[in-house]
Amino acid sequence: MAPVVSTTVSSLVLAISLAAAMIIFPAHAANPPPIFAFGDSLSDVGNNNALPDGFHANFAHYGVDFPGGVATGRFTNGYNFVDVIAKQIGFDQSPPPFVDVTEENLSVKQGVNFASGGSGILLECMDDTGTTKTCFTMREQIDNFKSVKTLLEKKIGADATKKLLSESLFLFTCGSNDLGYVIEHDLLNVEKFVANMNTTFSSQLRELYELGGRKFAVANVPDGGRIPIVQVLNNGPIEQFINFYAQAFNDAEAAMLGELSSTLPGMKYSIGNTYAVIVDATSNPEKYGLKNVVQPCCGEVALVNGEVELTPCSPTSRLCSNRSEYAFWDQIHPTYAVVKYAGEVFYSGDLAYAAPINLKQLVGDDQKAPRACGVSLRGVGSFEAM
Ligand SMILES: *[C@@H]1O[C@H](CO)[C@@H](O)[C@H](O)[C@H]1NC(C)=O
Ligand SMILES: *[C@@H]1O[C@H](CO)[C@@H](O)[C@H](O)[C@H]1NC(C)=O
Ligand SMILES: *[C@@H]1O[C@H](CO)[C@@H](O)[C@H](O)[C@H]1NC(C)=O
Repeated sequence: MAPVVSTTVSSLVLAISLAAAMIIFPAHAANPPPIFAFGDSLSDVGNNNALPDGFHANFAHYGVDFPGGVATGRFTNGYNFVDVIAKQIGFDQSPPPFVDVTEENLSVKQGVNFASGGSGILLECMDDTGTTKTCFTMREQIDNFKSVKTLLEKKIGADATKKLLSESLFLFTCGSNDLGYVIEHDLLNVEKFVANMNTTFSSQLRELYELGGRKFAVANVPDGGRIPIVQVLNNGPIEQFINFYAQAFNDAEAAMLGELSSTLPGMKYSIGNTYAVIVDATSNPEKYGLKNVVQPCCGEVALVNGEVELTPCSPTSRLCSNRSEYAFWDQIHPTYAVVKYAGEVFYSGDLAYAAPINLKQLVGDDQKAPRACGVSLRGVGSFEAM
């Protein structure tokens, strides 16, 4: 009988220490929800590497500050947007890119990253000749999610998949490339295009809701007027024009998300204010330890005889000496320094950075297990007042 007693005692001890662990640590840190990431180069962790003629970042000096200094396909010097969000909720980095996931190694706990540099909401991901595939469209990213959902159902069953997806974080960075495209190609129809982005994104989100998504975290579009290739023009009206339409889309998107959540039962969302982060970084550089918010750290942009001359980031291009002092990594993408700041303020910032709730509230609001023990969690972990 003795062994039985000791087993019971040790399971009791184990149960008590598990309960204690649940109270001390926020549930999401121990057991963060899977992330399904969609969108563009702010989020791509290597999907484009699978496209021979895709937009690539799998060469130096990209990744110079990533562990091991490896260029994984992330369009920055270190971790990217999905990485910093994943870190905030308790992972080491982004879930793997869809192109690296097989039926055998699909992780039920981590999720999958579908994002693809150069993609948008409406963009077709073909070059101007219409013959070369440059990225995975949002349509393809959603279809890839569908095939992952099928694999999950095969692995853990339909009911567990449904529960898992309802707790997962659906993360988006999209819209900037659409705006860049229309401003360059179809200036007279920007307004119509923005309205179309709004309705198309709305039906894409609704489709993911119908597939089981409930928690949506959407980064709005930055003020494109601040990126180095636009700043170098030093043309106020052009900057204002671009920023005006970025704001118009962001306003439409916020209204659209509000409407979706009021019509789709259980749908929750948080908008991360990328626009505000870039305004902060470029307007008050010293506050963020930044010294250069005009030039890219890798590569160069210059205005020569009224034309923008661009030396893209490459193994042979200029690399700045201190990456943490630059707001921009290459001619369009922010440095890890700025991305990290974005991740922090989207996760736990106030309404100026994340609305109507922040990510911490979005991922934390279904932690019922500790509450069922009758323990007050006020002031602990994700229930902390903002
Ligand atoms: C999954 O397995 C494939 C094939 O063996 C491999 O190439 C890939 O890196 C693996 N992916 C992950 C996320 O482990
Ligand atoms: C965006 O969509 C929402 C809801 O679908 C709608 O209320 C809003 O008027 C739209 N805005 C624009 C500018 O199209
Ligand atoms: C890089 O810049 C940051 C911010 O100005 C500073 O704190 C750090 O000491 C610098 N590092 C080096 C190696 O110069």
